[in-house]
Amino acid sequence: MKIAVIGQGYVGLTISTFASQVYEVIGFDLNPIIVDQLNQGHSHIEGVTPSDLRFAISSGRYVASTKGSDIAGCEIIVIAVPTPLDGNRKPDLTYVDSACKVIAENLTGPALIINESTSYPGTLRDYIKPAIEKYSKQKFDHQYAISPERVDPGREDYNQKNTPRLYAGLTPEATKRTREFYSTFCDNLVEVSSPEVAEAAKLFENTFRQVNIALVNELAQISHALGIDVRETLDAAGTKPYGFMKFSPSAGVGGHCIPVDPSYLADVAEKAGVQATFIQRANEVNLDMPKYIAGRVEKDNGGSLKGKKVLVVGVAYKPNVADTRETPAELLINALEKLGAVVTWNDPVVGSWHGKDSVALSGADIAVVVTKHDVVSAAEILKSAPYVFDTTGKVKGAVQL
Ligand SMILES: NC(=O)c1ccc[n+]([C@@H]2O[C@H](COP(=O)([O-])OP(=O)(O)OC[C@H]3O[C@@H](n4cnc5c(N)ncnc54)[C@H](O)[C@@H]3O)[C@@H](O)[C@H]2O)c1
Repeated sequence: MKIAVIGQGYVGLTISTFASQVYEVIGFDLNPIIVDQLNQGHSHIEGVTPSDLRFAISSGRYVASTKGSDIAGCEIIVIAVPTPLDGNRKPDLTYVDSACKVIAENLTGPALIINESTSYPGTLRDYIKPAIEKYSKQKFDHQYAISPERVDPGREDYNQKNTPRLYAGLTPEATKRTREFYSTFCDNLVEVSSPEVAEAAKLFENTFRQVNIALVNELAQISHALGIDVRETLDAAGTKPYGFMKFSPSAGVGGHCIPVDPSYLADVAEKAGVQATFIQRANEVNLDMPKYIAGRVEKDNGGSLKGKKVLVVGVAYKPNVADTRETPAELLINALEKLGAVVTWNDPVVGSWHGKDSVALSGADIAVVVTKHDVVSAAEILKSAPYVFDTTGKVKGAVQL
């Protein structure tokens, strides 16, 4: 069976390599540079190793393409394109729309169309299906389903095979075919009664994390004001064997999911006449953390950062990945610069970012650790500046959040 995966990023490439163990996969992406690299066996994401990719290519069951016409004849299409927020922090379905267009214009027969992109409940039924119908010149009786992706790039214990996968179709036939599709390479499939339940569950999983991270970030501020060690408090609370789940304070939330997905839920809630107050407040707390941290660093350094050389250590949004999307490091750099600091950054995993390269981990007046990768030792960080502020809890001996 020939399938197409629209979007060859973190989600699409991962699913493509797994699916190519069984199916013939067209990895469709609009970006010609990514497509060329993929066809040469160079993976641009953590979690898909060059050997995984080369294995898929050499099996003859994976090819990347920018040509919409390569989708013709596919029986299953998986949509895995970005679902960001627009300038007003509202859902932006531009990429989903362009994916629907390319699918509609190139399919030559009826297909099962599965959305894996994260979006608000109702996206499959009220947006994707109508968009594909609108763009199709020939009318085919397509089936539609949702199976939101839960992949955590860089994670080794849970992957496509062993992470339980939610799914539901718009029709019983779509549900059945979706189950058959994923059961060839996923061990644990969880059917829910409607696509809207699957869409809502995915949003709520990340909202749960966003709200709890904000709560613990607020606790960090309260603890500092009271002279209590927040991490010791959390470890102490974590000894309770039930009814408590530990989250850790940080410079904020980053990546494509946690800072974004809750706002999809808030938006659909507002349209339904309900205020998502927890989500709004959690966004405020998390987005304010960089400003709070810059304020603490300023206070500890004589009340002024004017002209001081500040090194931000780790600009990826989490350890051991090169992903800088929505990284709190960006807001922190802005906040420090606003206070007059001369800011540079070090991150050997990211390498280059916003047209600038990672600088040496030395020679600064102040270092602020946002993300600690395994390849950067705490000892090296401590030597990089006479004052080191650590938001990660991993650099013992530094001033802690
Ligand atoms: N990254 C994660 O950890 C993760 C986890 C779970 C769910 N998700 C969700 O999965 C979706 C995809 O996220 P991602 O991280 O893989 O994004 P990504 O930015 O890594 O990759 C998306 C790819 O889609 C391509 N693209 C955009 N529009 C296209 C189109 N019309 N046709 C073909 N290609 C197109 C882009 O060029 C890009 O290569 C999002 O909805 C995201 O919220 C992501």
